[in-house]
This record gives sequence, structure tokens and C-alpha cells, in this order.
Amino acid sequence: MHEGMEKGFKRTLITTALPYANGPVHIGHLAGVYVPADIYARYLRLKGEEVLMIGGSDEHGVPITLRAKKEGITPQDVVDRFHGIIKKSFEEFGISFDIYSRTTSETHRQVASDFFRKLYEKGEFIEKVSGQYYDEEAKQFLADRYIVGTCPHCKNEHAYGDQCEACGTSLSPNDLIEPKSAISGSVPVLKETKHWYLPLDKHEEWLRQWILEDHKEWKPNVYGQCKSWLDMGLQPRAVSRDLDWGIPVPVEGAEGKVLYVWFDAPIGYISNTKELLSDSWETWWKDPESKIVHFIGKDNIVFHCIVFPAMLKAEGSFCLPENVPSNEFLNLEGDKISTSRNWAVWLHEYLEEFPGKQDVLRYVLTANAPETKDNDFTWKDFQARNNNELVAILGNFVNRALVLTQKYFESKVPARAELTEYDQQTFADFANVKEEVERLLDTYHFREAQKEAMNLARIGNKYLADTEPWKLAKTDMARVGTILNIALQITANLAIAFEPFLPYSMQKLNAMLNVEPLGWNRLGSTELLPEGHQLNAPELLFEKIEDTTIEAQVQKLLDTKKANEVENYKANPIRENITFDDFTKLDIRVGTVLECTKVPKADKLLQFRIDDGLQQRTIVSGIAQQYAPEELVGKQICFIANLAPRKLKGIVSEGMILSAEDFDGKLAVIMPQKEVKPGSEVK
Ligand code: MF3
Ligand code: ZN
Repeated sequence: MHEGMEKGFKRTLITTALPYANGPVHIGHLAGVYVPADIYARYLRLKGEEVLMIGGSDEHGVPITLRAKKEGITPQDVVDRFHGIIKKSFEEFGISFDIYSRTTSETHRQVASDFFRKLYEKGEFIEKVSGQYYDEEAKQFLADRYIVGTCPHCKNEHAYGDQCEACGTSLSPNDLIEPKSAISGSVPVLKETKHWYLPLDKHEEWLRQWILEDHKEWKPNVYGQCKSWLDMGLQPRAVSRDLDWGIPVPVEGAEGKVLYVWFDAPIGYISNTKELLSDSWETWWKDPESKIVHFIGKDNIVFHCIVFPAMLKAEGSFCLPENVPSNEFLNLEGDKISTSRNWAVWLHEYLEEFPGKQDVLRYVLTANAPETKDNDFTWKDFQARNNNELVAILGNFVNRALVLTQKYFESKVPARAELTEYDQQTFADFANVKEEVERLLDTYHFREAQKEAMNLARIGNKYLADTEPWKLAKTDMARVGTILNIALQITANLAIAFEPFLPYSMQKLNAMLNVEPLGWNRLGSTELLPEGHQLNAPELLFEKIEDTTIEAQVQKLLDTKKANEVENYKANPIRENITFDDFTKLDIRVGTVLECTKVPKADKLLQFRIDDGLQQRTIVSGIAQQYAPEELVGKQICFIANLAPRKLKGIVSEGMILSAEDFDGKLAVIMPQKEVKPGSEVK
């Protein structure tokens, strides 16, 4: 009996983060959210439980309007295009949604408007007028991200209205010196505007209890992020925006205002349930016997664990989620996946380039799932897992069992004669697979669960290798029959255990075994295929992936890198020539790092004590994300010795440490190639 059922739940409502219909979906989406959710849904369905899996596209928000503007089309055109591509990709990967709808649907507009109106009428919002930056050229208010200017702390000229990436300080647009619109480049003006805020501070107390006390079982990455938000103290959050794309704020005096995308999107889960079920949708959301589970990526944690629950609580009639099993991020070949830099494996491209191999990607992404920390996808690993695990272990075992049965018994399940001790041991070895896989799936450990299923295939392989039925064919057919019967029972167990993970291959396997899906509850049974049962002709479940195939994929990524570098160079060309005199004005010296510590409350800053040959000086440098302080102590660095001192986070920095920065923002501190005296000049 699974965890949820113990608490008296009767049904499970699975939601999956609604991806922005602003681009296609990639392996990061699949690994983080949709494959684990699908495994979970298939598992519960196989057990015969009542399950719904809800998905859809998130079709509002500023980035969609900007993309439309850039392409000279409407936002509706943008979302129509990508909703289609995304939906098709998910379908082809076997993500078994009960509904995949969209937030531009009429049902959603109604549900989200009603939700807002109910909170409004209950007095759950605060109304506030404030000055916000307005772009008079583009005729629109600017979201914080779309205002750039100089950071008041470190004087970086490319700080955003929400954060300075150079020194890591959180900003609000009003902090920026010389703010400019990132859309038109014009100087924005402050304009008064009214908005509705959800006072999260008023919800803090019950949220603390509900998460920190009542849900200690949530994954550590989720729990930890919630705790740090709660410990910082919650602030009211605006739930409306001045924008002409979105769901109009459904109250009087709100012309030109729409619901903030993060207000309407999670309500999309509700709308889509309603669209699917019409009248009976409420049971799934309001009956305390419904278990709600949100599958999301880590950038969505605060919205699903704090903001959306606060909205639901304010509304008053909804259940809160029982769990939010968020994953961390999947990187690609060592770099962060990025839609804008085209650094991704796009699902629609994979489907074209690897036809029929959906399960291979599902398998690899689960085997490598970023469940507890960020993880890396590499094509070499993809190939190795396919060749060494799917082909060599699972495929090989199943194939041997079926081919031998075809050869010696015309594909009829042979009789089982007396069992040896070793046979009994083999049965005992997989008797507890069911319990183990269930325990892992019930607690959202998909990666371990899949590994456990693979162990069953390992047991099978070992059994055949040890018993060597092909050597007994001349002398003891009864024994050969027994061995193959056991191998076939293991095969049938694999067809159950892998069904949530590899649905396409298991469909194929069921066809070869000539059975309907066997049902989860029979997992572990040694009587799945009766004596005399006719099997169909064996086919290969998986095939080897050749080096050339992988090399082509790696080359494709290298080409992307090259193209990005050319783009980057264009955006950051070599600056105009200077004279030698200009150069000699810079006094660059070598120093030895004596001490290095983190600057409190600044993610990016390290504070150095440097021996400059003559005396000691303090330098603050924005490299904390790439270096741990202790890594640099004792090392020699190069620094600008005659830069006028400036204050960073209240510390006077006497110079600047030189480092190389690549286009992705990766930093490497410049060090002399052999040891020199501190104070040596760099020329
Ligand atoms: N579109 C968001 C993202 O891709 C996720 C929205 S999830 C929902 O990050 F809760 F809003 F639906
Ligand atoms: Zn700064």
C-alpha cells in the first residue's frame, strides 16, 4: 500500500509545471518534470488507483510579447506555434497526460477570473498605487528585468532592475543609476499605477507550520528553499501587471491591467481539470481524500510551495498539495541549458534524429535525473547507458530467453520440473523487487527505482549465464525447460517493472510475450506465464548506438558553440585602439593572496588581503561564484595597483584582481606562469 493511501487518500491528482509556450521543450524539461511525473502516473494507474495527470502550456507573460514584437507577429501567433510543437513532443514521448490544454483557453479565462474575483470580494488583496517605470516610446510599463542601468553598489553599467549580476545584490528598479528601457533604449519615466497584492506576510504563520512542521518529508532541496524564503520573511506580491497580453483583471477600474502570469498559470491546473471533467472536477481539488502532487523544476519552488498555496488558502475551498517533488537542473555537456543560446537537445529534433528511441532518452534521463543536485547530460553517457545497460543487460536477457524458447520449444512456455536450490534462490532474489520499487516510487526516488528494475534483468542474465541451458539441450531437455520457464517468468516480471519507465519497449515486450499488460500487483510472481502459453517471435528491444551517431550530435553542439561565439564577438567587439601611453597608465602588479573570505550578504564577492610587495592591501572581487575562498589563499594573482579606491558593500577595495571571463560568464583568475616576487610589474 503506498504512502498516500496510508494517509487515507483515495485518488491522486498529478500536476506538471506548465511550460512557457515561448519556445520548444528540451531534455531539461523532460528530465526535471515530465518523465518523473509520467512514471509516477503510470505506476499508480498500473496499480489500479484513481489518477489524473494534468498538463498544459503557460501562454502569458512578458517574454511571449517580446518574442512576438521581435518577429512582427502577435503573441497569439507565438503561443499557437509553440503550444502545437510542445504538445506533439510530449505525446510522442509517451507523457500520458489526461489533458494537455493551454492558458489561453476560454475555460481558463473564466476560472482564473472567478478565482481573482473571489479573493477580491473576500478582501484578500491589498490595493496599492506606486510609481513604476514606463517606456514612453514602447508605450508600456517595464517589468524589473527590462530596466537596465548602473548598479549603485559596484557601478556595473549593465545591472538589471531586479539584480546586479556583477556583485550579486538584489535591486529594485528605483535603485538603478541612469535607468534605461531594455526594450527601446529610451529613458523610462516614473508613472503612478494601481495594483493588487497578495499579502503573503499574512500567510506566513500557517505556511511555516504547514511546510516546516507538517511536511518535513519533502525533498531536502524543496524544504530548504522554502525554509530560507520563510526565514527571510514574506512580503506582499503584486498579482497584476500593466500589460496588454494576459487575462484582464476582472474588476472595475482595471483597464489595461492583466493578471500576473504567475497568478493565472497555476490556476491553469484547476482550469484544465475542469475542462477535462466538467462537473466532477471539484472532487479532485476539494475533497480531502484527493492527494495533490505538483511536479516542477527548482525555479518554480517558491510559487508552488508558498504563493499558490497562499492563493488556495485565501480562496478557502481547495486542498493544498501533499508533496512538491521538485528536481534540480539538468545541464548539457557541462553548460547550463539555454533556450536563447540554443544550448539544448530539443525534443522535436531528437524525435526526428532518433526515431523510435523515445525510451532510450527516457531511460537515460531517469538514470541521470537531477533529483538531489544539478546533473549533466552528455552524449557519451547516453551512448554508454544505451549500449551497456539497455542493450547489454535488459535487451540481451529478454532476447536470450525468447530466442532459446523459440529454438527448443517452438515458442511455447515449457513446463517447470523440480527446482534446484539455485532456482529457488533466484526466485527469492526477486521476490522483494516489488516492495523495493514501490517504496522508492512512493517517495519519488525515480532514479533508484529504475535501477532496482534493472537489477531484475541483471538477476536474469546471471541466471542464464550460470545455468547455461544451451549446453544441456542434448542431454536434459526437462532441465532446459525449467530454466527457460524461470527465465520467462523473470522476463514477464520485467515487462511489469519497466512499464512505467519504458512504455514503448514494454508494449513491444508484451506483444512478444503475447500478453495484455500484466498489472502491477502481480510483480514478483513466479507464475505469470502458464505452461504451454504461446509466445510470439522475438524481436530486438534495443539496438546499439554507434560512435558516428554520437559524434554527429557532439559536432552539432560544437557548431552551436561556434555560432554563439561569433554572435558574442559581434555583441562584444574588440574596442578601439589605444596608444602605448594609454597602456602604461595602467599599473598592473603581481600580489600574493594572504587571506580570502566571503563578503556577507553578497553572493558574488570575495574579500582579499594581498601582499603587494611593499605592504598589504584589501581588494574586493566579484568571483565568489567560481572560487571558494580557500582555493586562492597562497596563490599569486595579478591586480591593477593604481585604480582609485572604491567602496563595495561598505569595504574599501584598493585595486582590482584580473581574471579572464568567457562569454558565458565563466571566470578564471589570471596567475603568473611561475612564481615571481610580489610587486613585480606586469607589462
Ligand atoms: N511557465 C513556468 C515555467 O516554465 C511554469 C509555470 S507552472 C504553473 O517556469 F504553476 F504556473 F503552472
Ligand atoms: Zn553591482
